[in-house]
Amino acid sequence: MKKTFLILGAVVIFMASFSKADLTREKTVVATATLASHALQSNPGEKLINKSDCLGCHNKTNKIIGPAYVEIAKKYPATEKNINMLADKIIKGGTGVWGNMPMTAHATLKKDDAKLMVKYILSLKKK
Ligand code: HEC
Repeated sequence: MKKTFLILGAVVIFMASFSKADLTREKTVVATATLASHALQSNPGEKLINKSDCLGCHNKTNKIIGPAYVEIAKKYPATEKNINMLADKIIKGGTGVWGNMPMTAHATLKKDDAKLMVKYILSLKKK
């Protein structure tokens, strides 16, 4: 949410800075609409998660069968090493880190997609 406000703030500044210049009104409207639509679009990793079966076992803030995403984000700093390791774990499945419940394998998931999902999850860290 914070990010959306920042981007919307950037849109306002963007508009203000161009109002002085001799741009046509249409141009400004198009640019503003483009920026706003980017702000509203969800993260690519979030989209992939929504398309997959993750939501059956994971929730952003509550433990279901698997740990809450905010808990995962708290545990792992978003380093390349952690992102790689967690992406592999999603693809292969596994157990023993959070308890005895296993995570099923996602063998058809592409590594790059799994990494996008992990990046999204690790971005959910509470300040
Ligand atoms: C069948 C239930 C289930 C599904 C479906 C599932 N998970 Fe999990 N997930 C778990 C469990 C249980 C754990 C804890 C595993 C452990 O303790 O090692 C876990 C752990 C994780 C972790 C942390 C791994 C670690 O080693 O700390 C990540 C990241 C994760 N899941 C992401 C996902 C994503 C993304 C998807 C969808 C592609 C997904 N999970 C689908 C049950 C599931």
